[in-house]
Amino acid sequence: MPDLFSKFDPLIGEREALLETGLTDPFNLVMEKVESPTVAICNGKRTILLGTYNYMGMTFDPDVVAAGKKALDDFGSGTTGSRVLNGTYAGHRAVERALRDFYAMDHAMVFSTGYQANLGVISTMAGKDDYIILDIDSHASIYDGCALGNAQIVPFRHNDIEALEKRLRRLPPEAGKLVVLEGVYSMLGDVAPLKEMVALSKAAGAMVLVDEAHSMGFIGEHGRGVAEAQGVIDEVDFIIGTFSKSVGTVGGFCVSNHPKFEILRLVCRPYVFTASLPPSVVATAATSIRKLMDSADKRAHLWENSKRLHAGLRQLGFRLGTDEPQSAIIAVIMPDLETGAAMWEALLNEGLYVNLARPPATPAGMTLLRCSLCALHSEEQVGEILGMFAAAGRATGCLS
Ligand SMILES: Cc1ncc(COP(=O)(O)O)c(C=O)c1O
Repeated sequence: MPDLFSKFDPLIGEREALLETGLTDPFNLVMEKVESPTVAICNGKRTILLGTYNYMGMTFDPDVVAAGKKALDDFGSGTTGSRVLNGTYAGHRAVERALRDFYAMDHAMVFSTGYQANLGVISTMAGKDDYIILDIDSHASIYDGCALGNAQIVPFRHNDIEALEKRLRRLPPEAGKLVVLEGVYSMLGDVAPLKEMVALSKAAGAMVLVDEAHSMGFIGEHGRGVAEAQGVIDEVDFIIGTFSKSVGTVGGFCVSNHPKFEILRLVCRPYVFTASLPPSVVATAATSIRKLMDSADKRAHLWENSKRLHAGLRQLGFRLGTDEPQSAIIAVIMPDLETGAAMWEALLNEGLYVNLARPPATPAGMTLLRCSLCALHSEEQVGEILGMFAAAGRATGCLS
């Protein structure tokens, strides 16, 4: 009988070989206690968190936590139902109002995760005879949304304006087209040239979706993302986002100004055929989103942190994903998986947690140590982090 698991044998072999060297499993870490958005206890040791995407540090905000507790008392632990049946509570409407206010847009639809928001909106908007034109480095949820909808997929080279233009030119003018872009690409932390790309897409008659998962709350004057920062937010048809990063909880959403947007609530399968978010989650999200509207000081501090860490790592001699800091993600490029895993463990032993990222999640087969900064990291913590990188770099031979 064929074993359906046999296709995973190469991965199982690679993983076993890595663990046989005595290395801690980088994909199985337990946070024994989380003290704040920037510190946790891991393996009994105080550990600075530098790989959580908790960009604005909202997870322990007292107002956010209080809103969640109150909703738990008032509405119970879960809705046990779909948004279109028994799963829309006052809190779901309230968080959608908060999103409309945050983005100054007409419509907002909340999904149970950002993954489902991409899955739902992309698969529902672009069907069998339509085209999806997407950056080749798009997030897995974007690719999975394409697969679910059966549209023709036209990838173009990462952040390459000319490549996008060429692809658009070759498509039949009368065909339905959806261009899918991200504000910040999460592997290298680089920003998309949305100004040019949105203009080209619109000129070619395409609708545009921008996933702003890694920019919400931080980039742009009001924290609306890269589309806001580059002055094209009014031309974007759909913005996708998540509550699992700057908002500090879990959930996903799409905001739009399209007059027919609300019909998606009836036709979008990943919205209809799943239970809605628990009342405590939507209450924390609504409170957090409203506070993010008024967080210019935190945004400024987060930029300072990103610049400080980027400059410090460069000075130490590490190879980074971008020449300048473009977001709150700073990717340290490792020569190979073995060195990356050794460096990851050495950092953990120093008391620092970062994300180890490897193919297929990473572009061009790279192994990365992905650092994501938080607005609540202090200047001293960034200094401590740099000291840990220096020590771990020397211990593993990454730095001479
Ligand atoms: C670009 C991008 N889109 C969507 C998602 C999915 O978000 P969520 O965690 O809410 O499912 C992520 C999460 O990693 C992401 O990086």
